[in-house]
Amino acid sequence: MAETVPAVEIRNLLKDFPTSFRRQLLRAVDGVSIRIEAGEVYGLIGPNGSGKSTTMKALLGLVAPTSGSCSIFGKDSMKVDSRQDVGFLPENPYFYKHLSGIETLRFYGKLCGLGGKQLTERINELLALVDLENARDRRIGGYSKGMLQRIGLAQALIQEPRLVILDEPTAGVDPVGSRQIRDLILKLRERGITVFLCSHLLEQVQEVCDHVGIIFRGKMVKEGRLEDLIAIEDQTEIILRNATPELVAEIQALASRSGADCLRTGKPRTTLERLFLRETQGDDPS
Ligand SMILES: Nc1ncnc2c1ncn2[C@@H]1O[C@H](COP(=O)(O)OP(=O)(O)O)[C@@H](O)[C@H]1O
Ligand SMILES: [Mg+2]
Repeated sequence: MAETVPAVEIRNLLKDFPTSFRRQLLRAVDGVSIRIEAGEVYGLIGPNGSGKSTTMKALLGLVAPTSGSCSIFGKDSMKVDSRQDVGFLPENPYFYKHLSGIETLRFYGKLCGLGGKQLTERINELLALVDLENARDRRIGGYSKGMLQRIGLAQALIQEPRLVILDEPTAGVDPVGSRQIRDLILKLRERGITVFLCSHLLEQVQEVCDHVGIIFRGKMVKEGRLEDLIAIEDQTEIILRNATPELVAEIQALASRSGADCLRTGKPRTTLERLFLRETQGDDPS
């Protein structure tokens, strides 16, 4: 059987930038390779300045690699036709503040060669998807950071791309807004859209990504399936509801009779984010 074409393939990417010191170069990306299969959600995490945005820009053909190569669905990133199937939400998207949400999407849709009834329908669908129907006629200048990121995401989806690249989609967005964006990413995954995102916010990456790469000072230091990366192989978790102390004691006794060590019993902890959302939104995410 022929091997399927990956959505993203980055091979030994190296990118040097000139610095203000003559002839000195700054190595922003140092031999990074990433393969993302179609339909996956891949999260690239790393501290500020580690080369995440540069990697994404090289993939989009916005910066030329010093060496190495990138392709999208098998098409070389330096060629224009590779961009046909990609939507991009940049780190600090710039929008015309005097345009409304709907006008913004119409503007980007037209840039992508869409128009007429097809574009109108697409815009309505996207406004519903990103939950901005109520704000469609409001000027972008009055949008919150979370709303701006969501209209940015809608913009990235306008031409129905098979791959979306999101550079820090939740940076500067409050927990409620971040959660909306996280849910949107999950919706994209349900639709079979490949997502390549980067972030320095680890918890959010953990909640949406199938695969994770950790980049540090331009180098990929760890990569793999999220489940494999965070699993503690020799441990097993059992979570019970309404267990009596007697039942817990019985389970502990059973475990020790079978030669297993019971490392810990107690109440699982929620995260501060979940607690915040429960108290402010009345959610009960389990
Ligand atoms: N256009 C550029 N010119 C010079 N240096 C750059 C340029 N873009 C990024 N860099 C440098 O490359 C390194 C990686 O940057 P970047 O890819 O933006 O990191 P991240 O997105 O992980 O925060 C940083 O040291 C940054 O200052
Ligand atoms: Mg960046």
